[in-house]
Formats: sequence, C-alpha cells, structure tokens
Amino acid sequence: MPRISHILIAAALHLGASSAVNVSLPLSPPSGSHSLAPTLVSFSLEQDCWPDWSVVDSRNEFTNRALENYAELTGEPPKIRVGANSEDHTFWSPTVTINEDQFPPANAVTPYPEATHVTVGDKYYELSRFLPRGTHMTWGVNFGADNVTNAINMAKAIVRAFNTSAVEASGVVLDLIEVGNEVDIFKWNGLRPANWTVEDYVPDWISVAGPVVDAVGIIGNDGPVSIQGAAFASQQFTPREIFDLGILDSTPGKAISQISQHQYSAAFCNGGDVPLTSFMDKAAVRGNLSLFEADIAATHAHGLTYVLGETNSVACHGAPGLSNTAGAALWTIDYTLQAATLGIKELFFHEGIGYKYNFFQPVSLNRSTIDGSPLDPPVAPHIQPGYYGGLVINTVVGKTGAAEIVELPVADSNVAGYAVYEQGTLARAVFVNLHAWLASSTGERPAVHIDFGFASSEATESWSGNATARRLVIEHADDIAGLMWAGQSYETSDVSPGGQLVLEPVVLDEGIDLRSTEAVLVEF
Ligand SMILES: *[C@@H]1O[C@H](CO)[C@@H](O)[C@H](O)[C@H]1NC(C)=O
Ligand SMILES: *[C@@H]1O[C@H](CO)[C@@H](O)[C@H](O)[C@H]1NC(C)=O
Ligand SMILES: *[C@@H]1O[C@H](CO)[C@@H](O)[C@H](O)[C@H]1NC(C)=O
Ligand SMILES: *[C@@H]1O[C@H](CO)[C@@H](O)[C@H](O)[C@H]1NC(C)=O
Ligand SMILES: *[C@@H]1O[C@H](CO)[C@@H](O)[C@H](O)[C@H]1NC(C)=O
Ligand SMILES: *[C@@H]1O[C@H](CO)[C@@H](O)[C@H](O)[C@H]1NC(C)=O
Ligand SMILES: *[C@@H]1O[C@H](CO)[C@@H](O)[C@H](O)[C@H]1NC(C)=O
Repeated sequence: MPRISHILIAAALHLGASSAVNVSLPLSPPSGSHSLAPTLVSFSLEQDCWPDWSVVDSRNEFTNRALENYAELTGEPPKIRVGANSEDHTFWSPTVTINEDQFPPANAVTPYPEATHVTVGDKYYELSRFLPRGTHMTWGVNFGADNVTNAINMAKAIVRAFNTSAVEASGVVLDLIEVGNEVDIFKWNGLRPANWTVEDYVPDWISVAGPVVDAVGIIGNDGPVSIQGAAFASQQFTPREIFDLGILDSTPGKAISQISQHQYSAAFCNGGDVPLTSFMDKAAVRGNLSLFEADIAATHAHGLTYVLGETNSVACHGAPGLSNTAGAALWTIDYTLQAATLGIKELFFHEGIGYKYNFFQPVSLNRSTIDGSPLDPPVAPHIQPGYYGGLVINTVVGKTGAAEIVELPVADSNVAGYAVYEQGTLARAVFVNLHAWLASSTGERPAVHIDFGFASSEATESWSGNATARRLVIEHADDIAGLMWAGQSYETSDVSPGGQLVLEPVVLDEGIDLRSTEAVLVEF
C-alpha cells in the first residue's frame, strides 16, 4: 500500500507540473512570412571605448572570435554600428591620434559611465580594419553640438578611413552614416532647449546633414554609402512625423536608405528593481515591439529598410539580476525573432565596456559591472548569457541567406514558437519557454509537452519519421553563467565551444518536452 500511494503522488505531481500543447506547423511558408537577414543579430557599440573592441596595435582576438562564431552560423558577420550617446559628444581633431575620452566618476548604479567628451583623430576610424572580414558598418556623427564644421570633419574622417588601403584590404565596409543619436531626448539632456519639437528637428537636421552629404559626396540613397535616418530613443519623435514633415524631400533626406528606432523594455538609469520574472513574459515582448508596426509600415511604404538600430533589455546599460542572466538569453531569442516577424531587418544590440547587458566583455575588467566594486584580480574577457541567445538565433537563421520565418500560434502564455522555411519547405522550428525557473524555485520543474501537427494547403498530413533537436539548457533563469547550447559551453578563454556536441533525436509522432526556462531548435 505505501508503495502504491508513493507512485500515485509522484504521478499527480508530474501531472500538476506539466502541460501539453498541440502546435500546427504549416509545411510551406504562409503569407505574411518574413525573410531572415544573416545579420539579424547585429551590434551597436558605445563610441567612447571603440578602440577597446578593436584594439590598437593588434586585433582584439576575443572580439574577433565572438563575432566569427556568429558569422560561421549565418555566413556573414554581425553588422556593427558605432555611435550612441557619446556620438553626440565626439569631436574630430587633427592633433589627436586615436582618441581622448573624459569620463564622469563611476558609481554603483553606473559602474561604467559614458564619456562626456570624446576627441578623435583619423586613426580612430581606421581601427575598423580589425573587425571580421565582410563586416558592414554604420558610423555616428555629432549632431548634438550643432557644429557643421565638426560634423563635416567627422564624416570626412570616416570616409577617408574607409578609403585607406589598410581598411580596404580588411574587407570591412562602410554602409551608413548616422547624423545624431536619440535626438528626441535632446530636450531632456540639454543638447537642445526644453521646447524643441520635431518641427524644429527636421530643418535643424537638414542644416547639418546637408553639408555632411555634400562634403563626402553622398548623392541619393543607392550608392555604397548612404544615411541612416531617425535613430530616435523612444516614441517622442516618430519616423511617420518626419516623413510627414518632408524630410525625405531634402537633399540629405534623399540620401536616407534606412530608418532606425531604438528600444529598451525598461530603464535602470537611476537604479531600481526590474524583476526578471516580469521581463520573461511573452505578452510584454510582443507589447514592446508591436508599437513600431505603423512606423515599420510607413518606412517600407517609402521603400526604405527598417531596423532597431540600438536595442537591448533595459536602458542605461542593463539591470542587475536581469540583463546579465540566462533569462535574458531566452528573452533575446523571442524578442529578436518576434521583431523579424514584424519586418524589422536587423537588431543592433547595444554594448559598451562593462555594461550589464553585453553579449560579451571584450577586455578584462577591474570593477564589477553589477555594483562597481573593485575586482582584484580583474576578470578576463568573457561572454555573458545573452551571447547564447545570439548562437540560437543564428542557428535558426541558417546559412542560405534566403530563410523565411513565421510565428507559430502556441496555446501557452509562456511558450513562443517560430517556423523557418528554406526554398518554400519547412526546415526548422524553435520553441522558447519563458516561464522563469529560478534558483529559489522549489518542487518539480514544470515542462510543456509539445505535439506537432503538420499542415499543408491541401490537407492535414502527418509528417512522421525523426528530426534532430538542439537545446539551450539553463539551470536557473537567474544564473549568470553555465549555459549549454547543444551540449556545448562557449564560456572558454577564446569563445570556442567546449564539450561534445549533443544532437537529440526527435520522434515526430511523439513530440518533445520543453522545460521552464529552456529553448529548443528542431531541425526537420
Ligand atoms: C491534441 O490533439 C489531439 C489529436 O487531435 C487531441 O486528442 C488532444 O486532446 C489535443 N491536445 C491538446 C492539449 O489540445
Ligand atoms: C565648431 O567646430 C570647430 C572645429 O572643431 C571649432 O573650431 C569651432 O570652435 C566649433 N564651433 C563652436 C561654436 O563651438
Ligand atoms: C580615395 O583614395 C584615393 C587615393 O588612394 C584618392 O585618389 C581618392 O580621391 C580617395 N577618395 C575619397 C572619396 O577620399
Ligand atoms: C524656446 O526656448 C528658448 C530658450 O530656451 C526661447 O529662446 C525660444 O523663444 C522658445 N521658443 C518657443 C517657440 O517658445
Ligand atoms: C515592455 O516590457 C516591460 C518589461 O517586461 C513591461 O513591463 C512593459 O509592460 C512592456 N511594454 C509594453 C508596451 O508591452
Ligand atoms: C582599472 O583599469 C583601468 C584601465 O582599464 C586603469 O586605468 C585603472 O587604473 C585600473 N584600476 C585599478 C584599481 O586597477
Ligand atoms: C527514430 O528514432 C528512434 C528513437 O531514437 C529510433 O529507434 C528509430 O530507429 C529512428 N528512426 C529512424 C528512421 O531513424
């Protein structure tokens, strides 16, 4: 008797902890599928510490390997934008060799503050040659200072750098120049008066960007180098407003080929408590992206590309216990793929030296990124959990450059699913379980059983046979290390995968289990 009740209790616990969903996968791409760019996961770097990412005399091998791992999965290295807040505090000088930065004091909320003044010389831009071959770049030009001479000096130095034989030989390419970062918050950060409006912005921008495009010979938006427009912080100004104000009819406006908006789902500028559990939320991910739909549509209607030119989890370098955790890696997967289904071509994940939300830290750090306390000895360059999110996404994107994605309806408030097509045929599916399993969680870890149905336009047919799965295995959502992607750790000194690759056989008729705080990629 006692043995039997034990078994019954165990069975009841198991049932209580688990649920099941049926997911229907269309065998060919439904209308409304979107193409997946090989550079869907791209990076934005804070301009002040750009040399640390590339390194002065010889290449930063950590940066290079971290980016090359991504390139190997999709066939193209992530695009790199250098700019952001320090872009509007940068001045070109003929007497500075690389850069001279002035930093405010660090504190516990912001252990690695942005420089308030950056002076750069020509060699600063020439460091672009240390990025992986084939990297496409966007460089920022100072609009905050409203100084046409300085803006021209910066733009000329950028174009000159990419015309040197060293940068040309490196195969690193300049695509875009951005004139001004997050101008819609200039009225709050003192770069413009508090009463500055979008109606003031458009002629002001034309008065700086016009001389810039003239000085570097950019005509129209179909040449090798064109202009990135907008780069707004929030919904203070919108692309639709500047289109309506006629920005695209101006000479520099005619050079705009791409519209960028920025997005963070929360802010940690003055500290605070941003809970990881509320962040790992399927509805919140969708809410933070659907608000761009009208701007995406307006941008595409003008024949322009739309990107999130700067994004990450929490503004002001991330929130501790959130942006640096395994849960953020899962958030990154759902957020990025959700964005792709809305027609957002690329997401430039913002990174700075010592920022909490970095995918990787490219140099050793002697202060904690979490509270600024001294680190003795310093920590060596290392990846953070978000890096695994990029590995999963780039495996989903694949190497053909022609994959298409669609979101799968999954009747579970924690589980997101996406199907990917190659040459019109279902090729892969990925599922993310955002339910947070924390170090403090007790009892049995919940799991969702996913049964597959396969739907064609003619009839529902069952695809039987086997598939292969790769799993992103996480102990706890609040872990800051120890993740495994398909059995392998990338937490090695040179970002090379360690451990045996694990490919799980999947019997399609039986479906798969997906635990809380886990992602799985099924390859058909
Ligand atoms: C899944 O589909 C099967 C077969 O149609 C059905 O028996 C089962 O109840 C469904 N399960 C759920 C959770 O909807
Ligand atoms: C604008 O920039 C130029 C070049 O750096 C500099 O000489 C000039 O003083 C600046 N003008 C103002 C008003 O700051
Ligand atoms: C690029 O460099 C070549 C010489 O190497 C020069 O003739 C040409 O004018 C330069 N182009 C620009 C746009 O600076
Ligand atoms: C905006 O503020 C500035 C002072 O900061 C003032 O000179 C200007 O007249 C104001 N403009 C309007 C339209 O109120
Ligand atoms: C964006 O995400 C945050 C964090 O999860 C959430 O609190 C907020 O409600 C979301 N915003 C929208 C518009 O859904
Ligand atoms: C930390 O490193 C920076 C340069 O990366 C250096 O300037 C500073 O002196 C170091 N601080 C300590 C306490 O070692
Ligand atoms: C499918 O996988 C099952 C279980 O791993 C295995 O027994 C079976 O031989 C496989 N079938 C095929 C066709 O590979």
